Amino acid sequence: MEKEIKYQNILKNIESLIEGEADTISIMSTISCELYQAFEQWNWVGFYRLVDEKTLKVGPYQGTHGCLTIDINQGVCGKCAREQKVQIENDVTKLPHHIACSTDTKSEIVLPVFDKSGQLEAVLDIDSLELNSFDTIDEKYLTEVADKVY
Ligand code: SME
Repeated sequence: MEKEIKYQNILKNIESLIEGEADTISIMSTISCELYQAFEQWNWVGFYRLVDEKTLKVGPYQGTHGCLTIDINQGVCGKCAREQKVQIENDVTKLPHHIACSTDTKSEIVLPVFDKSGQLEAVLDIDSLELNSFDTIDEKYLTEVADKVY
């Protein structure tokens, strides 16, 4: 219940901060900032933009250094972009295809970001310092957040 209340407050803050804003980079920057400060166990929050049919490029983010480019055939982000479905990884240390931008990361969630026509534009990537950080509650609310970008 506590996590749900936290997310409901985060959503209200984000909605208020981006009200009337149409610039996606500004919206992504604001979302990254608000989410990163919300959960102390998260060590990376940000976006990778789909710049062509096989390349993700880092967008606005908060946290330790994020790799700049991800081939769509690589990593958890690439899998999310290929399948266009949320990826929840409870223990990334056991994942052969995981790209470790930080060796401190233990679990991860990656969500597709669609524009109004349903076209994939980016992925929202969140890393945690703890195992098993993400569940269906995170998926539900972070999907609502991702739907506010475009
Ligand atoms: N872990 C991601 C790469 C992005 S860094 O974590 C910011 C992946 O496996 O795609």
